[in-house]
Amino acid sequence: MSILIQNIKTLLLANDQYTNKVAGKDLNNIPTLNNAYLLIEGDRIAAWGSMADCPQRADQIIDATGKFVLPTWCDSHTHLVFAATRETEFIDKIKGASYQEIAKKGGGILNSAKKLQQTPIEELVESAYLRLQEVQQYGTGAIEIKSGYGLTLEAEIKMLRVIQQLKQRTAMPIKATFLGAHALPTKYKDNRQGYLDLLIKDMLPQIAAEGLADYIDVFCEKVAFSVAETEQILEAGAKYGLPPKIHTNQFNCMGGIQAAIAHQAISVDHLEVINDEEIAALQGSSTIGTLLPSAPFFLNDHYPQARKMIDAGLGVALATDYNPGSTPSGNMPFVLSLACIKMKMQPAEALQAATINGAYALQLADQLGSISRGKLANVIITKPMDSIAYMPYAFGTNWIDQVIIAGKPI
Ligand code: NIG
Ligand code: FE
Repeated sequence: MSILIQNIKTLLLANDQYTNKVAGKDLNNIPTLNNAYLLIEGDRIAAWGSMADCPQRADQIIDATGKFVLPTWCDSHTHLVFAATRETEFIDKIKGASYQEIAKKGGGILNSAKKLQQTPIEELVESAYLRLQEVQQYGTGAIEIKSGYGLTLEAEIKMLRVIQQLKQRTAMPIKATFLGAHALPTKYKDNRQGYLDLLIKDMLPQIAAEGLADYIDVFCEKVAFSVAETEQILEAGAKYGLPPKIHTNQFNCMGGIQAAIAHQAISVDHLEVINDEEIAALQGSSTIGTLLPSAPFFLNDHYPQARKMIDAGLGVALATDYNPGSTPSGNMPFVLSLACIKMKMQPAEALQAATINGAYALQLADQLGSISRGKLANVIITKPMDSIAYMPYAFGTNWIDQVIIAGKPI
């Protein structure tokens, strides 16, 4: 099966050499080709170029006059498997309770864990699959999904098996992350090391034996796990070949970034707060900062300093953080709008952060994140528009016309 998209107003991120993260000034320099075509064969990008060189034949022809074509989003940070939404906390937050206060009262993550422990695996698969289908409509073509709402051996394994089943059910690449260290279960309140031991000695070996995770994550934060505890977990993960992608600097600068870099983390995620020392540490590393602006939007918190990071020469990735507590939304176009409106990123920077840099944060930059020959044919066709700025500008507007995943229109 071949698909030819022709008369494309502008083809974005078309570059066969795009297999690494884009950083600093380069972020604003987005590859563009006007009056272009794109040829898909099977599940791959077969060719692209100017209309003057457009092939004549394909099984299906799509006319993209006036439209942009770009790679799908790589949403490199989500908690898309969960048992129940948390509107009660939403109301508490409107009345003034903070995210940390809710967590301290046994709400938050522990509340989600209680519900997930009681929910059958089939139900979790079905609800997560519906969310996956929904985010594909928003243009997401690859995604990372974390455990961390289990917090017992059985429930963490159950969550990771849900992700494994999702992997088998969709052509969209999925990476699974083990986040057993998301919150300390109440039972271990006076025995923190007891929970770490459960995680390291019981959960990790079984997860590794079943091949259930690609990465290891820790919520390194005052309300969750310390830097020393984080290091213990990352070291254990390394023994099973699980590189870190960690939650850090959501509320406090406490050394999480440096610890993650020392353990060759693929990404450090959140970064609502960051200091100069931490920016310097990132400058010398291959670890990418992943910014999740929907979380501070929903929590009414301050946003990451994307401008400062990019001006310091860093690459950043953008992701949703889709979860029932801090971000009940998997909408990447809205993340792009927040990146521009609240973090002063230029539209081109936001587009590259959400595609090629998201792919880098999933270790999939050789397969996804750009329009390159041989990469997976995961593309977005927009509605007609004048410029790329329209995409983040028209927040909340559905400007996506069509999404193709692995060579198939969805
Ligand atoms: O990334 N910060 C930690 N974890 C999630 C929220 C989890 C929850 O509140 O359920 C996040 O924001
Ligand atoms: Fe998260």
